[in-house]
Amino acid sequence: MLRVERLVKNFGALQVTREVSLEVPKGLRHAIIGPNGAGKTTLFNLIAGELRPTGGAIYIGDQEVTRRPPNERARLGLARSFQRNNLFSSQSVRENLLLGDISARATGARFWPLLSKEKAAQERAEAIAEQVGLADLLERQVSELSYGAQRQLEVGLALIAKPQVLLLDEPTSGMSPEETGRMLRLVDALPRDLAVLLIEHDMDMVFTHADRITVLNYGQVLLEGTPEEVRGSDVVQEIYLGGEEE
Ligand SMILES: Nc1ncnc2c1ncn2[C@@H]1O[C@H](COP(=O)(O)OP(=O)(O)OP(=O)(O)O)[C@@H](O)[C@H]1O
Ligand SMILES: [Mg+2]
Repeated sequence: MLRVERLVKNFGALQVTREVSLEVPKGLRHAIIGPNGAGKTTLFNLIAGELRPTGGAIYIGDQEVTRRPPNERARLGLARSFQRNNLFSSQSVRENLLLGDISARATGARFWPLLSKEKAAQERAEAIAEQVGLADLLERQVSELSYGAQRQLEVGLALIAKPQVLLLDEPTSGMSPEETGRMLRLVDALPRDLAVLLIEHDMDMVFTHADRITVLNYGQVLLEGTPEEVRGSDVVQEIYLGGEEE
């Protein structure tokens, strides 16, 4: 579903992405791990189209999108989780999902009064809330939600456009262990045809929840493999246990 080939990104003399290749087939949960500054977020920005690569190629399905703008990539099925400040904190969960629905369909806010009564849109909002574990909190104002629940809502907003590839940049950052577990179980339970690429700091969680793992260090792929392969690797032990980071 998503293929990245020898992607390169330089900021001046700084090589932040060095010939990174990876492939995320339909339905796979693929985690990116690596120390602070390894280039994980930069890789996401390249994939989403917010940064232009210095070299290499990106494909969504069979379409090359390397030089296409973010909105075209979205139309081809790519979504990334919104940052927290994209939530409307004085609106309810339901209203946030409905507003997300409007913008995903690019109809414009002037249709809001109509849309909020539209049964199909309401049902879509309810289905998404169910998927991200917020079904019981639909009428709750976002500012009253726990931090973890707000982040679940961000994932819900990313799902509205029915993506085929979902990018999640540290969906569990700042979460308690309990919230982290809930978030990753939720990611597990997303539609099985959705390819998920996620950046995750909690190594135990990565080993339990990812199908494949790419380890980035200094912009380079150090290792790619199954959780078992990565857990057993000396380089990973060294970076994470021997190093000063994380
Ligand atoms: N716009 C930019 N201009 C110059 N350097 C940048 C830019 N964006 C990122 N960098 C540098 O690229 C490197 C990788 O940053 P990036 O944010 O991708 O790392 P990361 O793996 O996501 O780190 P973290 O775990 O802290 O989120 C860092 O050295 C960072 O300072
Ligand atoms: Mg980052």
